Amino acid sequence: AKVNIGLRVLGRRADGYHDLDTFFHLISLHDKITMTLAEDRKTSVSISGSEAYLPAGRTDLMEKAASLFSAMSGKSFSLHIDIKKNIPSQAGLGGGSSNAAAVLKLLNEAFSFPLGPQQLLDGALRLGSDVPFFVTGFFCAHASGRGERLSERQAVSLPALIVRPHGGAVSTAEGFRKLDERAFVPSPLPAWTADAKKWMDLYPNDFDLIQPVLERKDYLDAVSGSLYHSTTGSGACQVVVCRDEPERDRIESGLRKKESHFDVMRTYLLKDFATGVIFD
Ligand code: C5P
Repeated sequence: AKVNIGLRVLGRRADGYHDLDTFFHLISLHDKITMTLAEDRKTSVSISGSEAYLPAGRTDLMEKAASLFSAMSGKSFSLHIDIKKNIPSQAGLGGGSSNAAAVLKLLNEAFSFPLGPQQLLDGALRLGSDVPFFVTGFFCAHASGRGERLSERQAVSLPALIVRPHGGAVSTAEGFRKLDERAFVPSPLPAWTADAKKWMDLYPNDFDLIQPVLERKDYLDAVSGSLYHSTTGSGACQVVVCRDEPERDRIESGLRKKESHFDVMRTYLLKDFATGVIFD
């Protein structure tokens, strides 16, 4: 999964999308995907595992990724995907997008790279604005445009919490609509620094304005000592970045003690895969 460190919605474009300015950072929270692939005359895709996360009738983005790969590469196959889902959906964590990117990349590898890097990125953007980041393999990147203009930045390794507010569903469309009503267009974010102590002053998220949890004093009190806390993506999850593990433990138990407690997941901002946390 990813979190956003800062997110500016700059303005609505002629195609209905918005120009964004954000930093993406990988975190250790992940799903497990097993793919079983056989060459076949006609492409077919089946999915098993924890699928309950999918609203009824919605085609899984992994299935769309496999069909798109088949169309773009001219390869046909039967594919079975088994998924163990840990990343909450509709949360601002890019869960569906990283699944789709994984399918694109793994299929491309399995067929000995029929799609070049640019084609892979173009295909990714057709699947969703957050998908190209997961295709790059960057741990941290600046993103602009819809999210497809990506350049690598220095990643950090820090413990963090993902907080999912209870009943705090937010509507991305509603968020964009409210932001369209602003009388001004904000400036892009300042340049990246890997010094997380400075993030709180530098990198706000425009979607903070639709997060009910940010009106809760008990939440704000619990996370106030952290290095950085913010909405990720359009929400509703919040990311809380901590100096070290004792600080994370303290903030976590503070959140769990609240009367109406919060769903809290431990994670790390990832600088590389060397910490081992990803392979548990
Ligand atoms: O690209 P993706 O499917 O993630 O976008 C979901 C919705 O969010 C879009 O239909 C659009 O309304 C909005 N969006 C936007 N500008 C972006 C990304 C998303 O307006 N850069």
